[in-house]
Amino acid sequence: MRSSITIWTLLFATLFSFTMARKPAAFYLAGDSTTAAQSSDGGGWGVGFLKTLARGAIGTDLGYNGDTTASFVSGGAWANVIDAVSRSKAEFEPYVTIQFGHNDQKNNSGVTRSEYQTNLQSLAENVTAAGGTPVLVTPLSRRNFNSSGLVIEDLAEQRNITITVAESLGVSYIDLNKASTMYLDAIGQNLSATYNRVSDDYTHLNAVGSVVFGTLVSWLLLTTTSLGGALEPYTIPSAAIIDAIENGTYIYPS
Ligand SMILES: *[C@@H]1O[C@H](CO)[C@@H](O)[C@H](O)[C@H]1NC(C)=O
Ligand SMILES: *[C@@H]1O[C@H](CO)[C@@H](O)[C@H](O)[C@H]1NC(C)=O
Ligand SMILES: *[C@@H]1O[C@H](CO)[C@@H](O)[C@H](O)[C@H]1NC(C)=O
Ligand SMILES: *[C@@H]1O[C@H](CO)[C@@H](O)[C@H](O)[C@H]1NC(C)=O
Ligand SMILES: *[C@@H]1O[C@H](CO)[C@@H](O)[C@H](O)[C@H]1NC(C)=O
Ligand SMILES: *[C@@H]1O[C@H](CO)[C@@H](O)[C@H](O)[C@H]1NC(C)=O
Repeated sequence: MRSSITIWTLLFATLFSFTMARKPAAFYLAGDSTTAAQSSDGGGWGVGFLKTLARGAIGTDLGYNGDTTASFVSGGAWANVIDAVSRSKAEFEPYVTIQFGHNDQKNNSGVTRSEYQTNLQSLAENVTAAGGTPVLVTPLSRRNFNSSGLVIEDLAEQRNITITVAESLGVSYIDLNKASTMYLDAIGQNLSATYNRVSDDYTHLNAVGSVVFGTLVSWLLLTTTSLGGALEPYTIPSAAIIDAIENGTYIYPS
C-alpha cells in the first residue's frame, strides 16, 4: 500500500514538473490592420502566423484596424491583451507581439514620434508586468507604391524607434520592416501586388500574403531573437516559403 502511494506521488510529481517545465506558448498579436485578420478595411500577417503554431501552442490575433499606439489603449483593445496574458499564464507561456506605426506615422494621428516611443515602451513594460514576454515588431512594409511605381512609404523612422525601445528595455524585437522590404524589392511591384487584398492597396494583405508574411514572422522569431530555442517546438515556418523569401524568389503558396 505504502509503496503504491509512493509510486503515485512520484508519478504525479514527475508529470507536474514536466508540465511546469513545458508550458506551451500562447501568442497574442497586438497591432494595427497590418497585423489584424483579413476584412473589408484591413488584412495583416496575424492569421498566417497563427497557422504556423504547433504542439499545443495557442494564439489570438488581436490586431485592430486603424489603431495607433494610443487608440489601441484608449479604445480598450490593450486591456484585452493584458487580460489574455493574465488568464493564460498558468497553463501557457504568453508572448505578445507589438507592431504599430502605419497609423501613428500619419500627420493627423495625434501621436508624436516621442509619444510613439513612450507608448511602445509602456506596452512592452505592461506585458512584462503581467507575466508575459513582449516582442516588438518593426512595421510590415508593403513598399506602398503609388501609381507611378514609386515607393511612398517606408516607415524607416518607426522601424528605428521600435528597435530603440526594444534595445533600451532589453526585450526582444524582430525587424519585419527590413525583411519584408528586402523580399518585396527582390520580387518587384507587380508580384508584390499579388499579395494585396485590394488591387491598388499596397498596405493590406490577402489570405496568401498573410501566410507568406506570417511565416516570415515565425522564422524571424526563431532565428533572430534569443527566444528561438524556447519557441522552436511551437511555431513551425514552411521551409518552402522561407527558402523563397531568403532567396528573393517569388512564392504564392496555395
Ligand atoms: C498631412 O498628410 C496629408 C496626406 O499625406 C497631406 O496631404 C497634408 O499636406 C499633410 N499635412 C501637413 C500639415 O503636413
Ligand atoms: C502600462 O504601463 C504604463 C506605464 O508604465 C502604466 O501607466 C499603465 O497603467 C499600464 N497599463 C496596464 C494596462 O497595465
Ligand atoms: C509618387 O510618389 C513620388 C515620391 O513620393 C512622387 O514624387 C510622385 O509625385 C507620386 N506620383 C503620383 C502619381 O502620386
Ligand atoms: C535611427 O536613429 C539613429 C540614432 O538616432 C540615426 O543615426 C539613424 O539615422 C536613424 N535611422 C533612420 C532610418 O531613421
Ligand atoms: C507591371 O505591370 C504593368 C501593368 O500590367 C506592366 O505595364 C509593367 O510592364 C509590369 N512591370 C514589370 C516590371 O513587369
Ligand atoms: C533561388 O533563386 C535561383 C535564381 O534566382 C532560382 O533558380 C532558384 O529556383 C531559387 N530557389 C528557391 C528555393 O526559390
